[in-house]
Amino acid sequence: MRPLNVLSVTSEIFPIIKTGGLADVAGALPSALAAEDVTVITLVPGYPAVMRALEGSQVVHRYSGFFGGAASLLSGRAGGLDLFVIDAPHLFDRPGSPYLAPDGQDWMDNARRFAALSRAAADIGQGLAPGFVPDVVHAHDWQAGLAPLYLSLAEGPRPATVMTIHNIAFQGVFPPYLLLELGLPASTFTIDGVEYYGQIGFLKAGLQHADRITTVSPTYAREIQTREGGMGLDGLLRFRSSAVSGILNGIDDKVWDPFSDTNLAQTYDPDNLDARMANKAALQKRLGLSQDPDVMLFGIVSRLSEQKGLDLVLAGLSRLLAGGAQLALLGSGDRALEGSFQTASTVHPGQVGCFFGYDEGLAHLIQGGSDALLVPSRFEPCGLTQLCAMRYGSVPIVSRVGGLADTVIDANEMAIAAGVATGFQFGPAALCPFADAIDRARILWRDRQAWRRLQGNGMRSDVSWRRPAKQYADLYRSCLST
Ligand code: ADP
Ligand code: GLC
Repeated sequence: MRPLNVLSVTSEIFPIIKTGGLADVAGALPSALAAEDVTVITLVPGYPAVMRALEGSQVVHRYSGFFGGAASLLSGRAGGLDLFVIDAPHLFDRPGSPYLAPDGQDWMDNARRFAALSRAAADIGQGLAPGFVPDVVHAHDWQAGLAPLYLSLAEGPRPATVMTIHNIAFQGVFPPYLLLELGLPASTFTIDGVEYYGQIGFLKAGLQHADRITTVSPTYAREIQTREGGMGLDGLLRFRSSAVSGILNGIDDKVWDPFSDTNLAQTYDPDNLDARMANKAALQKRLGLSQDPDVMLFGIVSRLSEQKGLDLVLAGLSRLLAGGAQLALLGSGDRALEGSFQTASTVHPGQVGCFFGYDEGLAHLIQGGSDALLVPSRFEPCGLTQLCAMRYGSVPIVSRVGGLADTVIDANEMAIAAGVATGFQFGPAALCPFADAIDRARILWRDRQAWRRLQGNGMRSDVSWRRPAKQYADLYRSCLST
């Protein structure tokens, strides 16, 4: 097997800067790919968190005029990862979220900021960094979507390109007058170029020009080719169907390891599940829930957004809390949803406990202390929290969409009899099916042995990056051989 060099291009990366699962994927895949003889260097914007974390940095290239200012391309290491970093203070030296200004709106110049990310990726793809000539440029989400387009405009040899869709709801759509500022010739503003319903579409451009398109589960790969799931891009995806595939995400089994997790009150393994009770108690204490080991405790770790279907939880709350059951929620995002869950915790003191904000340690404690994890998403490209839940013995209750459908085996009679069930699925993402799934889970939870089997099956499932990394390596190699 020939060793490969891959440039991964991403706007966020764990453990340095994260708003969602994209960061987890970008952070974990490089080391998993090393086992497949694939060397990955990741290109990220030089946000303050990245600049602070960067060690041993060296200047690879100095740009004099780069999207409105001076910039340098640096190489170095941070968070255990090999990085290229775009040090461009006029674009990235801003506090807080990578995407949002302090007023909660997108930064006005996001088109320029992420075109810069793609431009630097294309430059590295064409050999800007001596010593690392990528065989493949792997672009993640719309923020890297222009990279395949820039490369398609380049003269001379160029690397293969892979575009991965983590969430088709985010497409990077900007007004057409920006074309020149983004360094794109007028000839690219066509239906088979960057033009997207009269606008500039970053993801559209990537999907049009990448050699291969992947998304993060086989079911989502099918869903995005339908009118309902494609959010305007389904026609293009159907047209490029032979280049589209779905590769399930994994989780980093060193970061998510109940046997060694220092965020837990008590570590455990599948043969020692009683030890989880200490985590349940710690979680109840942390979120102001009644200290009671004998009530069912549901957990949620989520962005609070329309996608995640958490309004179903609010609508079905009385059914959920029946018999004294509890809800522990960690989330951030939509202010209205925060307000509603806040109210729920006031109306049901000791039964609903919430923390609004980002808290890595609490995310782990919820996985290690809850009995079941709720993921009632309206759509879900892959979803990582249900994988973490399985690994931590919290039984996932999920809607039957995208990667949730592909990763959780519903505890129906046949799956229970075959000893393979790992959770509960319901569909469609609506109140009645959701409430029915809760009732099914509650009944099985009372059967201690049956519940233990569900937990054990989940904990023994392979949710690591090993298999997906091999699939990515095969994909990279396949695009070089065509
Ligand atoms: P998405 O990327 O759509 O938000 P995923 O399930 O793929 O959904 O990934 C979410 C990731 O973010 C998981 O690692 C999860 O643990 C983490 N996460 C979500 N919300 C929070 C939060 N409020 N605090 C800490 N971690 C969170
Ligand atoms: C997106 C999706 C999520 C997926 C993650 C990582 O944020 O919403 O389902 O797991 O990307 O691929």
